[in-house]
Amino acid sequence: MLKKILKWTGRALLVIVLLALGYYTKAYITVGNRKSKVYAVKPVRLHIPRDSASIAVGKRLVTIKGCTDCHGSDLGGKVLFEQKGMGRLVARNLTRGKGGISKDFDTDDWVRAIRHGLQEDGTPLLYMPSGGFSKLSEADLTAVIAYCEQVPPVDRVNPPSEIGVGATILTDLGELELFEAEKIDHNAAPPLAIREGVTADFGKYVSQICTGCHKPDMKGTPGEGGTPNISSSGKSAQWTDEQFFQTLRTGKRPDGTELKAPMPWQMTAAFSDTEMRALRVYLKSI
Ligand code: HEC
Ligand code: HEC
Repeated sequence: MLKKILKWTGRALLVIVLLALGYYTKAYITVGNRKSKVYAVKPVRLHIPRDSASIAVGKRLVTIKGCTDCHGSDLGGKVLFEQKGMGRLVARNLTRGKGGISKDFDTDDWVRAIRHGLQEDGTPLLYMPSGGFSKLSEADLTAVIAYCEQVPPVDRVNPPSEIGVGATILTDLGELELFEAEKIDHNAAPPLAIREGVTADFGKYVSQICTGCHKPDMKGTPGEGGTPNISSSGKSAQWTDEQFFQTLRTGKRPDGTELKAPMPWQMTAAFSDTEMRALRVYLKSI
């Protein structure tokens, strides 16, 4: 009798293992296909300014758009995340030093990466948040490239990004968004320039970089490890304007608690007064 039961438990276990392997194989193949998909995107031809004023604008943008948060203040890149079984995410070295961008990396390649989230061969970059950059105005995008192209070379050979077993499963389940290129309208024509001012329109423009985490409706994602609702129905809408600005400048909420990672408050701390006020107007309007 016992022998029989053991035999059947063993078989049930075998079925479960085979089902799990079947699921993983399916996830591995689908994620692999998404990773190797070639997007036939032809970046618009942009003229990159070389004057010091544009480079100065670009230097500020590289901070307020979060590039330096991930790629480092010297743009030499760094490992953002690494865990056995999960994988590794690495923001690449964007300079012309050892381990940096390839020798023939040109303006088209910058546009393809920043605006479209794609590598030189047309396959998607992993985790690079281009969804928040795809609508950058031409004036801002060219200033960013102007600055990046002239930063001093940094010799830093970073290991490559890797999608491990855990990350493959989470990506397949939609819990992890690795391929920003999938979210982007590659045929959209972003504005040439944007009019700055304390308006909801400009606030919406500034908030594009928040959408990857707080979602396009700014209502965040519920649950453990999620992001808070920062729209008019969120807690932060109850703060005074001054408390809101103070929180995004110091990383401390009105009640004294800290804004924990990955909330990039060093990025928002560099926002100008106009950018902060416009952002506030927009967030309260939605
Ligand atoms: C949330 C982190 C993050 C932010 C913010 C970010 N990047 Fe990236 N970026 C990455 C990662 C990760 C990769 C590498 C992806 C890979 O290995 O597939 C990458 C890749 C790139 C590449 C491709 C380089 C190459 O060798 O092909 C460029 C160019 C780039 N980023 C520029 C920028 C610029 C400019 C900004 C700001 C406007 C920016 N990134 C903001 C994470 C980030
Ligand atoms: C990389 C993901 C990420 C990005 C990008 C991001 N945030 Fe956040 N944000 C978070 C997380 C996570 C928290 C919660 C932090 C905590 O638990 O302390 C947060 C918290 C906040 C809070 C506090 C809300 C509350 O109710 O306590 C505000 C306000 C906020 N973010 C505004 C912004 C704005 C504005 C932007 C864009 C300019 C932005 N965030 C971009 C992840 C992000």
